[in-house]
Amino acid sequence: MNDVLYINGRFTTTAERVIGVEDRGFQFGDAVYEVFKFIGKRPIFLSDHYRRMEGGLREIEIRSPWDEAQFASVMRELLDRTAFDDGIVYIQVTRGESERRHFYAEDLQPTVVAYSRTFQFPDAAKKTNGIQLITTADLRWKHCNVKSVNLLANALAKKKAQRAGADEVLLLDGDVVRECGSSNFFAVRDGVVITHPLDDHILPGVVRDHVVNIARGAKIVVEERPLLVSELFDVGEVFITSTTMGVMAVRVIDGRTMRRGDITISLQRLLDEAERAELIHSGSAV
Ligand code: PDD
Repeated sequence: MNDVLYINGRFTTTAERVIGVEDRGFQFGDAVYEVFKFIGKRPIFLSDHYRRMEGGLREIEIRSPWDEAQFASVMRELLDRTAFDDGIVYIQVTRGESERRHFYAEDLQPTVVAYSRTFQFPDAAKKTNGIQLITTADLRWKHCNVKSVNLLANALAKKKAQRAGADEVLLLDGDVVRECGSSNFFAVRDGVVITHPLDDHILPGVVRDHVVNIARGAKIVVEERPLLVSELFDVGEVFITSTTMGVMAVRVIDGRTMRRGDITISLQRLLDEAERAELIHSGSAV
């Protein structure tokens, strides 16, 4: 069965080779990307993803290829054309294609691609049972708030975790815990949820944002501050968040078993409810 690929205004499949070798996304990592989840062909938190992508494009001075209505309409058509009901959509906007030079022309036509893929989302048992992390140094660039395709440091760090038999990597910057290779990090200490503040050291995760709001709505205190590495094994429970993992418990860090707790389970349930509410809400739009 063919998949569906959107490229610069038309639909094809990923079987077609559509990117030029001198596309700046390919040669310079000069691009931003997004990943959103869809269930029953309905997107989850689509406008959050749109807003974050626009913020990233603005920050690296790439002209936005669409307003929110155009974006939503392309995504709707992409999902309509997709043969399966649940999965993820990967979107990438590059600065465009031109003769390879570091200096870029300011009037380049951005390259825009988006395609759908099936995805095995973790079930409730997996999310409660949890994953294993290892820690390693955060070697990324200094604008981690931009969801740029420069993922080499993340990919190398995650490979290190995989080789160690772990699932994800926790990035440490000196004496501070930042986030994971492809997810945000949360710890609970004395009933208080702690997560890194929004700044250029972490990606402003869409799920992170929802979980912070959901927790506060449930009268759970959330402190947005960097956790110190020295506090890491002193906390009550630990979890990560992302579009593909949701709220995922962490069972082990660097071979040490972490404590279990109720807050992770409550937040898993509340996020599931928020996603269901979003499906009802997007039902009329998609
Ligand atoms: N990763 N931090 C990093 C470094 C990430 O790459 C991601 C997402 C997140 C979580 O963001 P969100 O809640 O918006 O998914 C945090 C995506 C899923 C990826 O690279 O595939």
